[in-house]
Amino acid sequence: MNTLEKKTLVMENPSLVFKSDIPSGSVAWQSPSNIALVKYWGKKDIQIPCNPSVSFTLSTSTTETRLEFEPNTEGRVSIEFYLDKVRNEKFETKIVSFLDSIVPIFPFLNQLKFKAYSSNTFPHSAGIASSASGMSALALCLCAIEKQYFNTLAIENEFYQKASYIARLGSGSACRSLYGGIVSWGEIAGVTNTSNEYGTCLNDVVHPDFLNFKDSILIVDAAQKKVSSRVGHGLMNTNPFSMERFKQANTNIAALLKAMKENDMETFMSITESEALTLHAMMMTSMPYFLLMKPNTITLIEKIWDYRQQTGNPVCFTLDAGPNIHLLYPQRIENEVSKFIKADLTNFLHDSCWLEDCVGNGPKIV
Ligand code: DP6
Repeated sequence: MNTLEKKTLVMENPSLVFKSDIPSGSVAWQSPSNIALVKYWGKKDIQIPCNPSVSFTLSTSTTETRLEFEPNTEGRVSIEFYLDKVRNEKFETKIVSFLDSIVPIFPFLNQLKFKAYSSNTFPHSAGIASSASGMSALALCLCAIEKQYFNTLAIENEFYQKASYIARLGSGSACRSLYGGIVSWGEIAGVTNTSNEYGTCLNDVVHPDFLNFKDSILIVDAAQKKVSSRVGHGLMNTNPFSMERFKQANTNIAALLKAMKENDMETFMSITESEALTLHAMMMTSMPYFLLMKPNTITLIEKIWDYRQQTGNPVCFTLDAGPNIHLLYPQRIENEVSKFIKADLTNFLHDSCWLEDCVGNGPKIV
């Protein structure tokens, strides 16, 4: 543990309790989603990744969460969770058990009664996972309460590192949403300050062209996915290829960061696409096996490859744990790519729908 970790990431922190007056108030944060280039798929212990990952933080796909609180006399975690102003008991149950699990870190959680109001900028029907933006926004709200009432976390680095740590406990990939630009999670040999416990901003070690990359999210299917990420990660424990995969991710991350430093677009594109296909190959080779791509996912991938070959434009794709395609390309070719999407791809999209996003600057206080 480095000094910052020792200071901020003390797991059990009994001093974070209100000794006299228990306050009422509210805090609000907006936090972005992110899209992984090298994928996190497989975890151990308490939310520790089996391999390091790296992602682009997005700009327009965000969650805004306002957390209201007042004194709680129940002596246990109490929260009502509203999504788009409607109480959502499914998320509420998950959040109660997450908050319960972090009471030793924030013992004041038992002293407050919460109402959380959350909304996403992306349509629910877009099939975009909201766990990264949602969990990071919630973690920021909790750290903001700590900062405001206990006079801790005054140093910006400490604040975001703790928020990243807490977000990771809620959903692994969420810990990468705490910073803008390019963010890693998991120890990477030779890259300082990388950790299995929280995300690290890598903007200083990549070419600036990547900091305004575009991501057009092509919606192939808007249905809720049938297999949760949590179950998918678990199946890596018995996947016969998992050890090779974890080794490969380490090799890929080193090669990807080198390519991003040197602005080597060919290598960037081939590693990014290989990572996406490997993620889905892991799903197909798990037992029970499952398949999240749809026929139009494959059609679009082939169209992207044809377009790249015909035009020489550096356009590549990645996939999340779902059928939708993230089309990644440098900002300088955005007009050309926009024409390509409209002319050649919209027929294969759900309701002809795609979302324009790009690499963003990270969370904002509201
Ligand atoms: C395919 O972060 O959603 O998006 O830690 O169980 O909440 P939990 O999983 P989650 O998994 C994300 C998987 C991925 C790849 C990635 O974002 O790195």
